[in-house]
Amino acid sequence: MSIGKLGVVGAGMMGSEIALVFALAGKAVILADTSQEGLNNAVKKLSEVLDSGISRGFWTEEDKLGALAQIQTTTVLEDFADREMVIEAVFEDKDVKGIVFEKLDNILPANCVIASNTSSISITVLAANLSDERQKNFLGLHFFSPVHRMKLVEVISAMDTNQKVAEIAAMACVEAGKVPIQVKDVVGFAVNRMLFALWNEALRLVEEGACSPEDIDIGCKLGLGHPVGPFELMDFIGHDVNYAVTESVFKEFYFDPRFKPSITQKRLVEAGLLGRKSGKGFYDYAEGAENVAPTEDRELGELIFNRIIVMLINEAADSLHLNIASREDLDTAMTRGVNYPKGLLKWGDEMGVTQVYNRLNDLFEAYGEDRYRPSYLLKKMSENGETFYN
Ligand SMILES: NC(=O)c1ccc[n+]([C@@H]2O[C@H](COP(=O)([O-])OP(=O)(O)OC[C@H]3O[C@@H](n4cnc5c(N)ncnc54)[C@H](O)[C@@H]3O)[C@@H](O)[C@H]2O)c1
Repeated sequence: MSIGKLGVVGAGMMGSEIALVFALAGKAVILADTSQEGLNNAVKKLSEVLDSGISRGFWTEEDKLGALAQIQTTTVLEDFADREMVIEAVFEDKDVKGIVFEKLDNILPANCVIASNTSSISITVLAANLSDERQKNFLGLHFFSPVHRMKLVEVISAMDTNQKVAEIAAMACVEAGKVPIQVKDVVGFAVNRMLFALWNEALRLVEEGACSPEDIDIGCKLGLGHPVGPFELMDFIGHDVNYAVTESVFKEFYFDPRFKPSITQKRLVEAGLLGRKSGKGFYDYAEGAENVAPTEDRELGELIFNRIIVMLINEAADSLHLNIASREDLDTAMTRGVNYPKGLLKWGDEMGVTQVYNRLNDLFEAYGEDRYRPSYLLKKMSENGETFYN
């Protein structure tokens, strides 16, 4: 079954671009938000995104006109009564989302696929806002920003999701030019779970005085293919939001030390240094402010890379061990969701599983901290001389 009529609730940064990619694929989309003014602004922004893409040769004027003609806007969810698939992209708040799902439950046709674009709320928890019968049709579709450019979509089934529904939703994403991967309903899903390892280690390196945020940002951009460095990204998201997420993640992992939040970030929040939105965080955004230039030191670059890459590979190995996604999907997660030049498991094979395992063990012994605990899978593979792709 191919989905032809979509609804998207929430015309913010994510929802409006989700509407756009489906409209570009020729689907009829209704985009909903709470005010017509907000919707008009969203459509204006989409028009600008399309213009910028046209000037760079990605789309034609015809594509733009065709896509915009496919998008209708509304402030009343009752207009969704004939939709075949609805994607929710409202604020990241369990209660706000819950109210939207309760309303949709009374409006949508019985077989409508219902998805949430949440980044951090359990899909099974959100499913509970729907009647029992509807829960089979509910799942997570986690898109990445900017949606018109990032190919990855994490497809997350809740405990009761019908496998056929997950396949229909994944196929709709493929038709919109996306690359779907199947991911378990766990904290951070696949990509963010692996990125937590990177953020934690980046913060730790700065706390130890081993290097500056600028050094790490440039290292991650050059060595890993990050579009923006982790400190730039934290400043962009805002430390209040980011710290709250890391605290809740730590709690969700039953206080596993691998996910312990950073005191540096806590202090930034307490001092009101929230990043871009307050004018200062790790970087100073005041006009004319001079930020420290990264150190040009090859050895330091290698130290940063070696510490971060083994933490990332360890998390990818543990994700495989816990069946969070398949080997191929875990690697696609990082190449299509974050722009990595290769997947972490492939990277692990190239570096040598035993070398990665030994490096983690050295850190584990040196620091005596559980955060460097190697995944059981790495240990077992190293002992048996196995690789991820043999
Ligand atoms: N920003 C990202 O990089 C990113 C990436 C992946 C997933 N997400 C997730 O996508 C969702 C949306 O994020 P965003 O960054 O687009 O947020 P946003 O704040 O830009 O947009 C949210 C929109 O939802 C609208 N809204 C709120 N309550 C509503 C309601 N009851 N009915 C209709 N519209 C309502 C708001 O008016 C706003 O336009 C969140 O769940 C977020 O976690 C965000």
